Amino acid sequence: MIETSPSFDIFITETSRLDQVDFDHLEFGRVFSDHMFLMEYEDGEWQRGRIEPYGPFTMSPASMVFHYGQAIFEGMKAYRQGNGEVSLFRPGMNIARFNKSAVRMCMPEVPEDLFMEALAALVKLDSNWVPGGSEAALYIRPFMIATDAYVGVQASKKYAFSIFTCPVNAYYKGPVRVKVETSFTRATPGGTGFAKAAGNYAGSLYPSMQAREEGYDQLIWTDAMEHKYIEECGTMNAMFVLNGTIISPETSDTVLDGVTRNSVLTLAKDLGIPVEIRKFSITELQEGLESGALTEAFGAGTAATIKPMSEIGVNGKRYPLSDSDGWQIVPWLLRELDGNRRGEITDRFDWNIPV
Ligand code: COI
Repeated sequence: MIETSPSFDIFITETSRLDQVDFDHLEFGRVFSDHMFLMEYEDGEWQRGRIEPYGPFTMSPASMVFHYGQAIFEGMKAYRQGNGEVSLFRPGMNIARFNKSAVRMCMPEVPEDLFMEALAALVKLDSNWVPGGSEAALYIRPFMIATDAYVGVQASKKYAFSIFTCPVNAYYKGPVRVKVETSFTRATPGGTGFAKAAGNYAGSLYPSMQAREEGYDQLIWTDAMEHKYIEECGTMNAMFVLNGTIISPETSDTVLDGVTRNSVLTLAKDLGIPVEIRKFSITELQEGLESGALTEAFGAGTAATIKPMSEIGVNGKRYPLSDSDGWQIVPWLLRELDGNRRGEITDRFDWNIPV
């Protein structure tokens, strides 16, 4: 079936896969909804886009993304509301960040209105795929890749922009054990750390695998110059509660400006919890763990939401932390953020955008 919007065409599948999905046992990122959005860039402009049944692309083996890694993505979520409707959570922030990533990677920006219209239409069309229940959401993955078939090193002249969605449950099953990494680096000043560039994630795989061999789930990344200050935690922003104050490493060209981070800090400030956005050194972390002044620690990210750290490895010593041990701030933040996204408490910052 074909429908049209002023900006793109809509081809609706005749064979929905919805009834094949076991919504009670969703594995993160393995199940894909019926439709995707696709739009190509060539001759210096975006061509007419389309929503079509989810499926594979055919591409030249010489497509530049395969060789030089010109690829960016975003991660965002839609939530089933208490009243049964579906809302996107702060999509404007992801769209703006996507275009910031595009500029850094020499890729064309996607017009914000078109991006938003395509996103809302796609999620509305597949709204039956949005799961309900705690930790469940529709994860949305917009991405752009270089598609020009050319082996020289330069910015591609052709791109594909696509959005697909996945009904998901929690990204991490429980709290995470993390190790402070002081040899490998995720991002360097002047590099691409602030962008959601695919290569940033590829480079993190080897150090993360080594941490897993030591019994950790993820790494806490430190600055590239001195390996002295905490930057991120795996694919999340890192946060710590020290003497009752939330400490959040400042964003920079090596730290992603996370939407969940921003939401957590906004909620905390609004309810009068002290927040400090500043450099946080490994020494201060270790002293806080030794003295007991550091009581709670967590990562904040779209896929993971808010994940408590149950163990932190620093300078060869492992420090257990227990979220059943009177943690107050993390459970409270989780309730506030989750309640807000699911329309269970007042959306006082107008973060939910119904589709
Ligand atoms: C997200 O939180 O959306 C991320 O980007 C993490 C992802 C790599 C699973």
